Amino acid sequence: MRLRSVELEVRDRASAVAFLEDTWGLLDAGTRDGTSYLRGTEDLSYVVSVAQADAPAVGAVTFSGSDTEIASIRSRASAAGVRCGPMRKFDEPGGGRGFLLEGPEGQVFRFVVEKEAAQKLPVERDRPMQVTHVVINTRDRDACTRFAVEVLGFRLSDRTRYMTFLRCDRVHHALAFAQSEVSSLNHIAFEMVDLDAVMRGVGRLKDAGFESVWGPGRHGPGNNVFAYFVAPFGATVEYTSEVQRIDDTYKVGGPDDWKWPPNRVDHWGASTRNDTAMSEAGRNFRFKQIPAA
Ligand SMILES: [Fe+2]
Repeated sequence: MRLRSVELEVRDRASAVAFLEDTWGLLDAGTRDGTSYLRGTEDLSYVVSVAQADAPAVGAVTFSGSDTEIASIRSRASAAGVRCGPMRKFDEPGGGRGFLLEGPEGQVFRFVVEKEAAQKLPVERDRPMQVTHVVINTRDRDACTRFAVEVLGFRLSDRTRYMTFLRCDRVHHALAFAQSEVSSLNHIAFEMVDLDAVMRGVGRLKDAGFESVWGPGRHGPGNNVFAYFVAPFGATVEYTSEVQRIDDTYKVGGPDDWKWPPNRVDHWGASTRNDTAMSEAGRNFRFKQIPAA
């Protein structure tokens, strides 16, 4: 199973799409029923969908997998009494069928068996390849982590004082929960081909009038290079590269393994973090409720 896409709703679809394409570097993957689809260069039909709405929201965080993987999540969810939408077909790039499922704090996860594989495009330094992780703010991080492990079948990769990192394939984390007072989207991370591509992205955003709210730097858990920005539609987005690939021999770290020296918030120590901007943006996107069946 892999992280596939994030389904966003925004107040001004046209300007959000313009930013994601012209500045962030995603490619047009078509529009259907008033929803714009955007892709990266990896073999995924799309990685972000953008629909117009009265308020910003996350419609779903979508994972794609095999029939067996999706069926086993559905059966564990039913056994655990988790609220699920019906199995249905999705009319979107890649097609396929699947279902929506509600997390402990109303998070909406979607699991899809894709019908049509997408063609991988040539790598370009100025374009994201794919979405590599999504971080969700949670009020009860332990409960959400148990849910991700026991119901969704994710594996724990690392825990720090404020965050829990989970994986569904070899990428160190596809999903992470951040301790918060609200349940909302913390940020979406887009994988770039290398450090140079991340730095070129920082420059491209600067040219367009956007200063980073954190980074460039290198994280502890996952060891990935990062640079965070608040997009004009209000969500925090991250360029990242070199994210660690791990397997079951990985030693799961705890809070004592991930301590920084005073005044340091990453390996390099060169960046400052705009906590106010990140915390404000982290409240903008709440999860939309699963429609009643
Ligand atoms: Fe991140």
